[in-house]
Amino acid sequence: MTDTSHQPALDNLLSEDRRFPPTAEFGAQANAHAEMYSWASADRLSFWAEQARNLLTWDTPFTEVLDWSAAPVARWFADGRLNACENAVDRHVREGRGERVALLFEGEPGDTRTLTYADLQREVSRAANAMLALGVGTGDRVAIYLPMIPEAVVAMLACARIGAIHSVVFGGFSAEALRSRIDDAQASLVITADGGYRKGKASALKPAVDEALGGAADALGPLDHGAQSSVHHVLVVRRTGQEVEWTDGRDVWWHEALEAASDQHTPVPVEAEHPLFILYTSGTTGKPKGIFHTTGGYLTQTAFTHLTVFDLKPETDVYWCTADVGWITGHSYVTYGPLVNGATQVIYEGTPDTPHQGRWWEIVQKYRVSILYTAPTAIRTCMKWGEELPAQYDLSSLRVLGSVGEPINPEAWMWYRRVIGDDRTPVVDTWWQTETGAIMISPLPGVTATKPGSAQAPLPGISAEVVDEMAQPVPNGSGGYLVLTEPWPSMLRGIWGDQQRYVDTYWSRFDGMYFAGDGAKKDEDGDIWLLGRVDDVMNVSGHRLSTTEIESALVSHPMVAEAAVVGAQDATTGQAVVAFVILRAEYRDRVDEVGEGADVAAELRAHVTTQIGPIAKPRTILVVAELPKTRSGKIMRRLLRDVAEHRTVGDVTTLADSSVMDQIATGLSSST
Ligand code: WTA
Repeated sequence: MTDTSHQPALDNLLSEDRRFPPTAEFGAQANAHAEMYSWASADRLSFWAEQARNLLTWDTPFTEVLDWSAAPVARWFADGRLNACENAVDRHVREGRGERVALLFEGEPGDTRTLTYADLQREVSRAANAMLALGVGTGDRVAIYLPMIPEAVVAMLACARIGAIHSVVFGGFSAEALRSRIDDAQASLVITADGGYRKGKASALKPAVDEALGGAADALGPLDHGAQSSVHHVLVVRRTGQEVEWTDGRDVWWHEALEAASDQHTPVPVEAEHPLFILYTSGTTGKPKGIFHTTGGYLTQTAFTHLTVFDLKPETDVYWCTADVGWITGHSYVTYGPLVNGATQVIYEGTPDTPHQGRWWEIVQKYRVSILYTAPTAIRTCMKWGEELPAQYDLSSLRVLGSVGEPINPEAWMWYRRVIGDDRTPVVDTWWQTETGAIMISPLPGVTATKPGSAQAPLPGISAEVVDEMAQPVPNGSGGYLVLTEPWPSMLRGIWGDQQRYVDTYWSRFDGMYFAGDGAKKDEDGDIWLLGRVDDVMNVSGHRLSTTEIESALVSHPMVAEAAVVGAQDATTGQAVVAFVILRAEYRDRVDEVGEGADVAAELRAHVTTQIGPIAKPRTILVVAELPKTRSGKIMRRLLRDVAEHRTVGDVTTLADSSVMDQIATGLSSST
């Protein structure tokens, strides 16, 4: 990646010159301070040690901060002992915060539940005792396959309470995905539900567990299953009341087990480096990677970042992160960070458009949500639905908005701030990964003058750099690869059962540096802009172009709600740019008028030409109704590339809606 080849792509984002400095009022009350940067850069280890002491309660205080002697496996606070659930729940009750609301649950059908920290302590204690009664012990693995209901948080915390290692599998994954994750972790218990509510219907979960375990309904029968599977028991939450198959001796109702269990239980202190959880990444190729995290460092960084990046005031804020606990965002910013900080938070079971497209904003209004953390894809979906929808609700309680999961294009960032945040709230674009465990690069509200579309700077105590092929830092104004140059507390400790793969994947590309797999650039101020995965960087006629860059240009056109760009093989130029766009509602009629939307395509190609340059002009623009997305909302460019290159479309099993690909393929063949 040379500087000049990246230049056309960079110039578009580099010309973004809007700035939003913090207001004096916000700065005066902010949790974050500019001095944190100088303190951490002067003495990173004492900075983190201080956070670990202040934010967590330790059973045995640590004396060591970082042991990097077995690099790239770090040990943080290794001679200390603590319990994650004690930190997230019990100490709040002990210290007089038991009546504070921990969870405000909103089910998709409109049912609600409120759990205080004292309620949570009783529930989690019962669940821990029930798990112990089923033979689960410290170090055992427990698979959790649940909808977004309070029991998901309770189950995670109950594992942590007894030192068992949870492996949450997103409820939208198939039986096959669940089976491979259970097998890889050798889980002895699965916690699931009969089903959950999604898009206005009860959607079953238990059959996938039965299938994954080769249970009662399987031709092999339970005996063969028993010989093969590591799983001894399945705890089943009753959520929808739908019919379930039952394997006697294996399956146990959650409510019966909890009723029979005592609500008194003492959390088990574990070493700081005791594994807290395994989380499988949605692996594009090959076997999913079981990313595992440990206790002390992970809790330190999730709590610190949650407090400073979102400016959490636990007594007054109502926090809502829209992520499912099946993803890392749900682990770090639903279960652990917020609860360790004693926050009051909303959890919502369903989809944003059930029963209507204003549901999220209705929830913000109802609970007076003050901090909202969501993904760019959700923001762009709301842009597509039109700004009249959020305008119907009172969103005045909001004071901080966060974004995570993919690069946020400046137009979506601006829309988020203007339409949702009333041009008032700071927007924090937070870069991190399953592997990093917690936020790494982000503005700090109250401190940073934000720039639409940029994650800006590594947080205090974090060392990130943008390097070229030769591992040399690039100058300001240039692009390269994002690396992390020093170990951080919440870093992954490895890939479960495959440490060599850990070293190969993250530590072999650049000597002594963690390679994140993302492209990034530094602007003239040295601020970092994420450009998407490096495998999404295209090479057109020898020029490197970022998919994100072109998507951003497309979305900056008033007609476009959402865009996905891929590089397709091209005999002349190496790769060619192929764009898939969704139009905003107000412009959809125009496509019908002009047939295949040729007019629209010409206009958008001209727009990209003026935004970035002729080199970035898409060869093909296809107007589509939907984009293929994983259930976590990531656009699957791999599938779009298959369509653009006229190949048979690859594995679509992780798509939220697999029929989307057929519609797109049909459209493309008739328009090129
Ligand atoms: C991308 C989600 C740009 C990035 C927490 C990373 C981002 C991958 C951002 C990790 C952001 C996440 N700007 N890109 N603010 N946040 N990404 O493991 O490509 O699901 O490598 O973790 O998402 O995705 P993961």
